[in-house]
Amino acid sequence: MTLTPTRPTTETLSVLRRAASSPQHSAPVGTDPSVVDWVATIAALATPDDIVWCDGSPAEYDRLTRQMVSTGTLTQVNPEHRPYSFLARSDPSDVARVEARTFICSETEEEAGPTNNWRAPAEMRVTLDGLFAGSMRGRTMYVIPFSMGPLGSPLARLGIQVTDSPYVVASMGIMTRMGTDALRLITPETRWVRAIHSVGAPLAAGQRDVAWPCNEMKYITHFPETREIWSFGSAYGGNAVLAKKAFALRIASVIAREEGWLAEHMLILKLTNPRGRVFHLAAAFPSACGKTNLAMLKPSIPGWHVETIGDDIAWLAPGADGRLRAINPEAGFFGVAPGTGPKTNATAIDTIWGHTIFTNVALRDDGDVWWEGLTENAPDHLIDWQGNDWSPTSGTPAAHPNSRFTVAASQCPTISDDWQDPEGVVIDAIIFGGRRATNVPLVVEARDWEHGVFIGATVSSERTAAAEGVVGELRRDPFAMMPFCGYNMADHWSHWLEMGSKLRTAGNMPRIFQVNWFRKGDDGSFLWPGFSENARVLEWILDRVEGRTPAVDTPLGWKPVDGGINLDGTSVTTRDWHQLFEVDPDAWIAELEGTDDFFAEFGDRLPAALTTQLTDIRRRLKLSREN
Ligand code: GTP
Ligand code: SPV
Ligand code: MN
Repeated sequence: MTLTPTRPTTETLSVLRRAASSPQHSAPVGTDPSVVDWVATIAALATPDDIVWCDGSPAEYDRLTRQMVSTGTLTQVNPEHRPYSFLARSDPSDVARVEARTFICSETEEEAGPTNNWRAPAEMRVTLDGLFAGSMRGRTMYVIPFSMGPLGSPLARLGIQVTDSPYVVASMGIMTRMGTDALRLITPETRWVRAIHSVGAPLAAGQRDVAWPCNEMKYITHFPETREIWSFGSAYGGNAVLAKKAFALRIASVIAREEGWLAEHMLILKLTNPRGRVFHLAAAFPSACGKTNLAMLKPSIPGWHVETIGDDIAWLAPGADGRLRAINPEAGFFGVAPGTGPKTNATAIDTIWGHTIFTNVALRDDGDVWWEGLTENAPDHLIDWQGNDWSPTSGTPAAHPNSRFTVAASQCPTISDDWQDPEGVVIDAIIFGGRRATNVPLVVEARDWEHGVFIGATVSSERTAAAEGVVGELRRDPFAMMPFCGYNMADHWSHWLEMGSKLRTAGNMPRIFQVNWFRKGDDGSFLWPGFSENARVLEWILDRVEGRTPAVDTPLGWKPVDGGINLDGTSVTTRDWHQLFEVDPDAWIAELEGTDDFFAEFGDRLPAALTTQLTDIRRRLKLSREN
């Protein structure tokens, strides 16, 4: 179902007429008519003053960033410190994803499932028609063709986003393969994704614009059946850069289920061990739980070599040989700034040397950027993320906890040679993680694929600043996909089980692991040093994959034997080690009661294999309590 075109107004007709006469304003020659017609339909509804077709060229990026500096949307970072970089300060109300305003408009509520906000498509279309009518008045509508995945890769998918935010255009230019090359790949046979975005702040004639236009009312809506996204009111991250969470996860997860592949909230990493054997890992952690850091790991142990392929999203599909392969559909990183420093993530620091857009970080007196964790001590004076004077005694963070950097993946010094391999890389192991102060051990290996799916389905994690909500509160985040699965989560689990059966039949499947870098000791501090030391856990994981190290059976899966993880040179004591792996049967039995309730929400869509897993783990926990 597509939107009923409204009658073009006189203004729209004049925009379309201008469009026909100037190259920037008209569709490139050869553009598929489906694209031209759709753009005209949206223009007729949103009535922008102008339409610009983005070609993805450096000149275009330059023009847009200059324009945004002149309007105050961007501040240029001192080029002596960081060439060609910009700072954006958002509206203080528009700083993170808004999950409560995110909707899946599948034909039935059952299809969206109990973990998504569902609205009937017809009802939502009426709402959106009202919101978008005239919403771009006084602004330019940019048309952004893009490819998720390397151009022309069999795993890549195409889309077009229209937006009235030049900040979003610049971000899409970094985060995707954007421009004319992607547009040329769209033919009458292509099922391209339609994404419509407006900040929802039309300008009356003569009205002065603000630096970060947005609307208090926000709608981030998805129509999986027609592969459409409509986003209104926000210009921030996953709310507005629709190629990312909206397309590459919510819509793509639905396409993937239809077509027999997976779209997941996962980093992809290439590791070479001291013996020269190469492995690839995919790891799912909830937002702000360490994906970018792990993807850019600098191993603390000798002989290991790590390269980066992706830091947030993986598309995984069985290859011709039956092995699971993965691509990173993105072309850039939208990384969390706070906590990123030379000691924690030196690779990220090297990546953002220049050509970077920073959002909601602080500005130093010398015109460079700053955030908590960049240096050990804060400068004496800063301009904080809201544009106010700041000093260490201010008592507020100088950078917003969800402040971010946007940078091309190609700038990453550890980017792997095969990060753009159109066929993807073979995945040897899959990891699930979360931010858990208690209960969850440092690492365990799943008994088999079904147990691994159970581990993924039962991920819980403490809330972070990446979305609205109370930071630190424990919430379920199955597969780290709670906010990103475009269909019924129980069907997602069934799809994973089916993928497992196919991989098993083909004779090759990745092993599944669970990790937790965030367990705390009695004094409230992290038991595990984390960051580059996480290489020690990856070493154990890959030694398991190679069959080189024994493991101990626990109710939660296979754990390392004492001494199984090399701790030489760390501050981890024997007591810490035991605490890192402690399984408290009572606490776990209580946690599984919550799992019962959670699973019950899905009724008979819950795959029986997960009920079996739950019964099995409960039995093992009870046995361990008796012994
Ligand atoms: P999204 O971009 O929101 O999906 O986040 P992400 O999963 O990529 O998380 P990221 O790597 O940006 O890390 C988020 C925060 O966790 C940062 O402040 C990091 O410094 C911190 N962090 C990452 N890895 C570790 C770790 O091993 N230990 C500890 N203690 N903190 C970590
Ligand atoms: C996340 O929240 O998982 C992110 C940031 O990667 S956003 O693009 O805003 O979704
Ligand atoms: Mn993410």
